[in-house]
Amino acid sequence: MKSRSRSYLTLLACLPTLMIFGCFETKEFPSPAPPNLKPNQPSPGQTVAKSEHAPEVKGDSKGGKPEVPVTPVRTVDPKQLIDVVSGDVKGGESKNPTPTNFLWLPADKTHVKDEPLVVTSPLGLSPIASFSPASNPLTKGKVELGKQLYFDARISKDTTVSCATCHNPEKGWTDQLKTSIGIKGQVGGRNAPTVLNSVFGRTMFWDGRAPSLEGQAQGPPQNPIEMGDQDYKQIIERLRTIPGYREQFQKVFGTDVTLDGVAKAIAAFERATALTGNSAYDQYAMGDSPESLKAMSDSAKRGMVLFGLRLRTDDEFKAGVPLKKAGCTSCHAGANFSDEEFHNLGVGWIEKDGKFADLGRFAIEPIGAKNEKSVGAFKTPTVRDVTRTGPYMHDGSETTLAGVIDFYDKGGNPNPSLDKDIQPLKLTPSEKADLVEFMKSLTGAEVKVALPTLPPGADGKSPDPRAALTPPSPPKKAGLDSPHTMIGLRY
Ligand code: HEC
Ligand code: HEC
Repeated sequence: MKSRSRSYLTLLACLPTLMIFGCFETKEFPSPAPPNLKPNQPSPGQTVAKSEHAPEVKGDSKGGKPEVPVTPVRTVDPKQLIDVVSGDVKGGESKNPTPTNFLWLPADKTHVKDEPLVVTSPLGLSPIASFSPASNPLTKGKVELGKQLYFDARISKDTTVSCATCHNPEKGWTDQLKTSIGIKGQVGGRNAPTVLNSVFGRTMFWDGRAPSLEGQAQGPPQNPIEMGDQDYKQIIERLRTIPGYREQFQKVFGTDVTLDGVAKAIAAFERATALTGNSAYDQYAMGDSPESLKAMSDSAKRGMVLFGLRLRTDDEFKAGVPLKKAGCTSCHAGANFSDEEFHNLGVGWIEKDGKFADLGRFAIEPIGAKNEKSVGAFKTPTVRDVTRTGPYMHDGSETTLAGVIDFYDKGGNPNPSLDKDIQPLKLTPSEKADLVEFMKSLTGAEVKVALPTLPPGADGKSPDPRAALTPPSPPKKAGLDSPHTMIGLRY
């Protein structure tokens, strides 16, 4: 992704619901490399040489020992980091906020009565600490507050939809719908991606129009107020009518309710909770005992090899299938099985019209920097927990994993911008089944999230978070409008 487009996006993309507190350009982000790789062990990072961002693990000439992937160092000047908690904000209108400022308020640190929270990443994932920005450290009260906000429909314009409506932890942090349904039953044009492991994402959304949580953390050179978006004000004013939120904001941030705090709290909740790892594959790949060799079935191991990953060197199992025959690791690489790049597979190509239903990445590239290759290109999604996150693809056009494999097998949908790595695969029926088995082995231990008790509003009533878990009905077609916009949160 070109940095130009990222800075342009800053203006528009600055305000995804969960990470409003800043949009600053960063050149590099730490990639999700599996930590503490032991010698002679396979890693999903092994085959990512094609990606300029993902860590590369090379075998040495003697023992085939992989080098531990080097995490790129952030190149952002730490002085530019904005520590909103300390009120050390430079530039932007937030410098002199009025007492009623809804975006950001200076904090009195003595009011902050929150304790640090240490989260251990599930097996196979990078340590979360390296993905938590200095301006938004994980704390207990913040994560709890973020959880309430995540499940609270009072965040949406008409108080009917919460984040969990479309990113429901019980449904793999998605809505399991073809495309999402927002307020007043409006149907969006895109499938809700899982929030699981999105903390590792370098960009957000199918077209990457929002910078990652990390990018966001670098501080806002512009203030979103300039966008004159009053919806935010309404949201914050509504949340300020809820005494329980005002109290928690004082405790966690030392301020009244602000958009900055809402974003940080939700992001912290997602970081600490929406994680999937420790799958059968991780137990196999990261394990070193003979028992852990049995974590995956023979079929899943064959699928793993077809997918593009090597078996453990201490595994005597003979897969008997060509390594990388399916070539999936060209894109689904690294610890989170995504190169974080944009590719055209031809999903959404309308043959008779010779065009795409959704231009994807191309649409958000700035005039003058548009690249034809981006037409119909979308971000590589993770395939972790993919058994729970269907229907698949940005438009939800594939309902089963077998369907996804058939789609790849035929070489996607040929079109003028088709990615060069998408070609007919000539897989046998048993190879197809093996690939599905491998993807099943990426299912992590389910994250059980107990629903929070929401703070009562001015009327003394506490809404039931469960009510918002069912999308509004009846569904009405609303085109390609983003569900995030539909709930009144622009980016
Ligand atoms: C009405 C359904 C809906 C609601 C409500 C909703 N989302 Fe989303 N979310 C989506 C859809 C659809 C996308 C993909 C949009 C796109 O790519 O244009 C998405 C994308 C995302 C992503 C990017 C994930 C990735 O891997 O790129 C994150 C993170 C996210 N939403 C978090 C949230 C949070 C936090 C809230 C609440 C403040 C929320 N969403 C509310 C439907 C919804
Ligand atoms: C050229 C890069 C590339 C290759 C190679 C590739 N994928 Fe993908 N994959 C993507 C992209 C991009 C998407 C989303 C496409 C879209 O929605 O338009 C995707 C989507 C998927 C999905 C749907 C996930 C979801 O949550 O919607 C699955 C499953 C998947 N790929 C599995 C595989 C398998 C298995 C292989 C090997 C046979 C493979 N991919 C090869 C880039 C790639």
